[in-house]
Amino acid sequence: MKAQEFLNYAHDRFPGMTSRFFARDDLQDSYEDLCKLTMNIDWLRRDLVVLDLACGDGELTKKLQKNFEFETRFILVDQSEAELNLAKRRLGPARHNIDFKVGSAFSLPIQSNSVNLVVCHMALMLMRPVDRALAEISRVLVENGVFVAVIGGAWQESRIQEIFLRENRRVQNQYRVIEPEEFIDRRMRSTQAILELFSCVPLLNEVQVQDLTYERNFTPIQMTEFMMSVYDTYCLSDAGILDLQKSLFEEYRECCNSDGLIHFKINQKMIFSKKLTC
Ligand SMILES: C[S@@+](CC[C@H](N)C(=O)[O-])C[C@H]1O[C@@H](n2cnc3c(N)ncnc32)[C@H](O)[C@@H]1O
Repeated sequence: MKAQEFLNYAHDRFPGMTSRFFARDDLQDSYEDLCKLTMNIDWLRRDLVVLDLACGDGELTKKLQKNFEFETRFILVDQSEAELNLAKRRLGPARHNIDFKVGSAFSLPIQSNSVNLVVCHMALMLMRPVDRALAEISRVLVENGVFVAVIGGAWQESRIQEIFLRENRRVQNQYRVIEPEEFIDRRMRSTQAILELFSCVPLLNEVQVQDLTYERNFTPIQMTEFMMSVYDTYCLSDAGILDLQKSLFEEYRECCNSDGLIHFKINQKMIFSKKLTC
């Protein structure tokens, strides 16, 4: 199955999956940290155009909107219609200054030199080859425009990870029914590789990469759901999903602390860069 077809298949089945697992109202999360970083950029408070690239259900724009002037125009782009429809519903009455566009990061339906800020949460690593998406981001940004992205980081080595890797391997061998083409750009896994990648993109400069870590306490059910939110799960038959769910839950019940919760660290990375033409 083609990469785009597979990603759309997964997001059509479960739109809003990312914010469900990564957004927290009660704790610091990566949406909030991305928003904070944009607030440190002084010039970003005037009449602006902001692009939320691969917006999913619009969670990031929902949070960003609180910080920007009313005249700020938001453009939300995603290749999944199901995600965009959910974003439209969730952003509700604030919609008059938002354009929703179905489109691909590889050929953005947006004029060159027209966007002041591009934000992208948990999606850049899915755009393979990422150089093509970065070239598009550079094209649509104005001079001095800023690009901020959050991407997934390596999992912490732990018993939780070990169990998942073992059980996932077992069910994938037995129940895998979809074989997507590779869609993750593995160069996004290390800071060094990210810096090298950006050094080849015309005009995106001042690149900074920061590691983010969020401490979470999950019940065994939440832990199971979180681990199963990976795209591999969508390659399984329904019987495979049930098998994985059952076996992870049973093993994670044995991993709880005395309070009945499992301590887990979520690792992500934040990337900042600026378009400079000279
Ligand atoms: C993991 S979700 C993140 C959604 C949202 N940014 C969030 O963090 O809540 C990845 C999103 O990227 C979108 N996506 C993946 N590849 C894309 C591409 N090449 N062009 C546009 N959207 C893409 C998917 O449809 C999906 O909505």
